[in-house]
Amino acid sequence: MDFATNRPTTAKKPYILAVSSQKGGTARTTTSLALAWTWGRLGLDVTLVDADPVGATGLVASDWKGVRFIDGRSGDWLKNPIGDLVVVDAPALTAAESRSILDLAHGVLLTGSADPLSIRTLTVTNRRLAQARQTNPWLKVAGLLITAYDESVPLQVEILGHLRRSCPDLLIDHPIPELQEIREWPASLTEGVPDGPARLAYSVVADEILRLIRPELRRNEPNQDVLSWGDHFGLTMV
Ligand SMILES: Nc1ncnc2c1ncn2[C@@H]1O[C@H](COP(=O)(O)OP(=O)(O)O)[C@@H](O)[C@H]1O
Ligand SMILES: [Mg+2]
Repeated sequence: MDFATNRPTTAKKPYILAVSSQKGGTARTTTSLALAWTWGRLGLDVTLVDADPVGATGLVASDWKGVRFIDGRSGDWLKNPIGDLVVVDAPALTAAESRSILDLAHGVLLTGSADPLSIRTLTVTNRRLAQARQTNPWLKVAGLLITAYDESVPLQVEILGHLRRSCPDLLIDHPIPELQEIREWPASLTEGVPDGPARLAYSVVADEILRLIRPELRRNEPNQDVLSWGDHFGLTMV
C-alpha cells in the first residue's frame, strides 16, 4: 500500500520483518500470526511466512483478509518476496536456518519473556545480530516485545522496569499479557485474534511497530535515518 495515495503498489518490494528470539517458546508464532492478522485488517497487503522448521504457523494459518500464507521452510520465498509487508515466523537465532532470513530482513522483532534467562540471552542475541549485519548492514532491531507478561509476578514487573530504564528505545512499550484466550487461540484461528484484551494488546503493538517501520514501508529502500534505531541494543543488560 502506498500511504500517500492509498493505492496498492504491488511492484514495490516489501518490508521484511523477521519475528525471532534467542530462545524458543517466546510466542514468535503467536506474535507472527497476530501481527499478520492485525495488519491485514488494517488494509496492508501482508505475506505471512512460516520459516521455522517446526512448521507451527502452517498448522494453524487461516484464511484472513489481506494475508497470504507461504510455507517458507524451503527458503524459495526469499527469491521473490511479495506484498507490502512480509511477516516471517523465523526460527530461533541459534538455528542455521535463521541466517538466510537475517540476510534479507529489514527488521527483526525480538520476542522474549520477562524472566531472567530470557534477558540474559539478549547479549548473545546482540552478538548474533552483529554477525548478521556483516552481510546485511541494513538489518535493524524493530523492537523487543515482552510476551506472556504476568503483572502479578513481582519478578516480571521488576524485569520489565529494568528494560524500560536500560533500553527504552528498544523495548516495545506495551507487553503482551499472559492470557488464556491467547493460549487457546489456535483452536479457533478463523476468527482472528480473540476479541477483548488480546486483540487490544496486539493492535497497540502492531501500531507501534508500524509507526517505527512506516518510513521504510513508504520509501521501500534502506533508510539511513532509522539505521541507528535499536543501537541501544548493545547497552549493558542484567
Ligand atoms: N500472551 C500469551 N498468553 C498465554 N499463552 C501464550 C501467550 N503467547 C504465547 N502463548 C503460548 O505459549 C506457547 C509458546 O508460544 P509460541 O507462539 O508457539 O512460541 P514460539 O513460536 O516462540 O515457540 C504456546 O502454547 C502459546 O499458545
Ligand atoms: Mg513457533
